[in-house]
Amino acid sequence: MANLQEQEYLLLLPFFLASIILFRTIFNKVQNKAPLPPSPPALPIIGHIHHLIPHQAFHKLSTRYGPLIYFFIGSKPSALASTPDVAKEILKTNEAYILNRPKVANLDFLTYEQLSHVRHEEIRRFLRLMLKKSMAAEAVDVGAELMRLANNIMSRMLLRQRCSDSKSEADEGFGKRLKDAHNRFDLMMERIMKEHEDERNKRNEKAVDGDHAAEKDILDILLDKYEDERSELRLTRENKKAFIMNIFRAGTDTSSATVEWGLSELINHPDVMEKARQEINIVVGKNRVVEESNFANLPYLQAVIKEVLRLHPTGPLVVRESSEDCTVAGYRIPAKTRVFVNLWLIGRDPNHWENPREFRPERFLSEEWNPEIPMLDLRGQNFHLLPFGSGRRSCPGATFALQFVPTTLVAIIKCFELRVGDGGNGPVDMDEGPGLTLPRANSLVCVTVARLNPFPSI
Ligand code: HEM
Repeated sequence: MANLQEQEYLLLLPFFLASIILFRTIFNKVQNKAPLPPSPPALPIIGHIHHLIPHQAFHKLSTRYGPLIYFFIGSKPSALASTPDVAKEILKTNEAYILNRPKVANLDFLTYEQLSHVRHEEIRRFLRLMLKKSMAAEAVDVGAELMRLANNIMSRMLLRQRCSDSKSEADEGFGKRLKDAHNRFDLMMERIMKEHEDERNKRNEKAVDGDHAAEKDILDILLDKYEDERSELRLTRENKKAFIMNIFRAGTDTSSATVEWGLSELINHPDVMEKARQEINIVVGKNRVVEESNFANLPYLQAVIKEVLRLHPTGPLVVRESSEDCTVAGYRIPAKTRVFVNLWLIGRDPNHWENPREFRPERFLSEEWNPEIPMLDLRGQNFHLLPFGSGRRSCPGATFALQFVPTTLVAIIKCFELRVGDGGNGPVDMDEGPGLTLPRANSLVCVTVARLNPFPSI
């Protein structure tokens, strides 16, 4: 008897499952009856997105059509979010459906302590160069030097060599002339990978006892993964090159431009510069480099960094793609829609920020902006300030950037006066140039004058 019942149940099971699937499909359809977001008419400009200042063009659109709009870039359906509330619905509530982008592995290893001496050595080298120029009273293209500094740090961490060591290969950096540099990068990567592989082979022959004490860079870690049969992450040679290239692309322009914007703001606001220097002198002293461990005791410096990233988020647009239909702010976002969130505009939202265009770090000294962990406010918890995005796809280089930006900025303002313009007191223009990483329209060019005598042994 019991057996018969079991058999009946088994027979009914497929019908049962089918009705659940049917119910879910109908339910989803009903749920997705929401209208599409408002659409502007056809947008001829968007095809040339790389020649524009996209976040500014998007600002104009959202002013006209609202906080969430739907449009096409070529034949690609796209949505644009421009307020903290809608950003939250996209990056948090609907995170699981709007998560796609080419997968990039975890970059936590970029910050590992073993490599911190790389940052210090390169900053020291940069300061020595600035000192040399200051002694010769020569103007320095600070923007270009910062880009070189970021390139060199990243290159040493990723590949164990400076990219400006070999003039013939990549002296102009990976960021600025990316297209011209592409082939050269490919050749260089091939050579470096070959060197790494040879070295690894030698090491493996010697280290029968499994002693791999040599310092590993990121490429070594990738090669380890590649050679490990059990690893889930099986990378081809092309994958590895693309991975390294992506990190350069995402990390160098953004980090160096943030320091450049920060210096520009400080030159234009000498009172803020003075206050930041005083705090640093009291907490860190004249002859020491600022370390992350100091940040907790440098609330004004933290406020300065937040204010720089609020006004100049060098990743101004989050770009994702939806994998399934979902509902945002009462509107339907179909699957496979490219979704933009305008972080630049969110930082300038007049409904939240008082005098949003004004550079005033003091706004971050209130209780609301004083987390126990330094800089935590910048990590995507607060939807009014999202320079690194939010959630699982937020910037994996944020930890690196939040070491590089404050340490470099402080090293420069501690050691130098920066003279710009006829009288040496600026002002520095604050125009934005075209591109996706919020570059300055004009590189910051200054005459540097050493402030400290003797020059500290940094
Ligand atoms: C101040 C400097 C930087 C800013 C403002 C910045 C900003 C951003 C933003 C807004 C995103 C998109 C996040 C999202 O979709 O929610 C992003 C993604 C990314 N960033 Fe950064 N970033 C900076 C520095 C770096 C550095 C130094 C690295 C590498 C060392 C890096 C590597 C990446 C990568 C690989 C992605 C894509 C991650 C993925 O697709 O999952 N960034 N960044």
